[in-house]
Amino acid sequence: MEDYVLVTRRVFRETIDYLKENFKVVDNQKDTILSGEKLRKLMRDAVGVQSSTNDIIDGPLLDKCKKLKVVCNTAVGYDNIDVAACTKRGVMVTNTPGVLNETVADYAMALVLSATRKIPQGERYLRQKKWKKNSLTYPLSRDVSGGTFGFMGFGRIGQAIAKRALSFDGKVIYHCRNRIPPSQEKKYQAAFVSKTELLSSSDIVVLILPHTNETHHLIGADELNIMKRSATLVNMARGGIVDDAALIRALREGDIYAAGLDVYEDEPNLNPGFLELDNVVLSPHLGSATINTRQEMAMRAATNLVAALSNGDPPDLVNPECLKSS
Ligand code: GLV
Repeated sequence: MEDYVLVTRRVFRETIDYLKENFKVVDNQKDTILSGEKLRKLMRDAVGVQSSTNDIIDGPLLDKCKKLKVVCNTAVGYDNIDVAACTKRGVMVTNTPGVLNETVADYAMALVLSATRKIPQGERYLRQKKWKKNSLTYPLSRDVSGGTFGFMGFGRIGQAIAKRALSFDGKVIYHCRNRIPPSQEKKYQAAFVSKTELLSSSDIVVLILPHTNETHHLIGADELNIMKRSATLVNMARGGIVDDAALIRALREGDIYAAGLDVYEDEPNLNPGFLELDNVVLSPHLGSATINTRQEMAMRAATNLVAALSNGDPPDLVNPECLKSS
């Protein structure tokens, strides 16, 4: 069978055209989520795959894909891919860093503001025709300006959000695995603190770190208990970093004030408990979803695919050690 690359989800025409200049392309312009079985069938003879966050790419699947050389995720995060399993089999993995920082940071601020200032709740109040007078005491929310923003994770996107927090006169504190250099801390007026200090002193906790075995359920019942009852939690990172059941309980009991969520465990199967709460703003994983950014992400993934298959040197390789094992 002739070599081909698989694009698992609908992407922009220009991306497909670019790939077609280089390879035979099997695509999924219908944009259905490919079941495990369908993915196995379509990937079996592919030399490269342009994947998305719904595609679970693990060892058993890779064992069926004898020709596969590269998986190019159309996302900066890649927790849908078992990178160690790819490395072991000499399969390159790439992501799309950089192109989405500002777009995701804008959306993070939108969720901070929506959840803390209760913007969707105000709109519901109006649509439900409950707005009969301009009351001085109802409905009320909390301030964003001047608050302490605590960042769990402080990479490129976290720093882009911090820039926005500073323009709201916010105080920036952060916690992450690797402390950033002093010059960067100075730039964002950011103080490195322990996880406990961050949780107990932040008005707004922003999660913007990768989902790994180490960060799974990083925020559970204990952590939510440490947070201020007046605090807002915003998750712009990945479902699985938060224990959703524990968060639903905390929001229901008023252990924290509000949450703004773009990501969930087991997407797109939302825990129905969220739908019963009024103090959470729910968004279906749209942080990077602007026309420009999604075009750039798709082209970036395609560029990685072409580079990986033509010279074995894609710009955004996340597992360079795979080159040694192939
Ligand atoms: C989106 O969630 C991404 O990781 O780019």
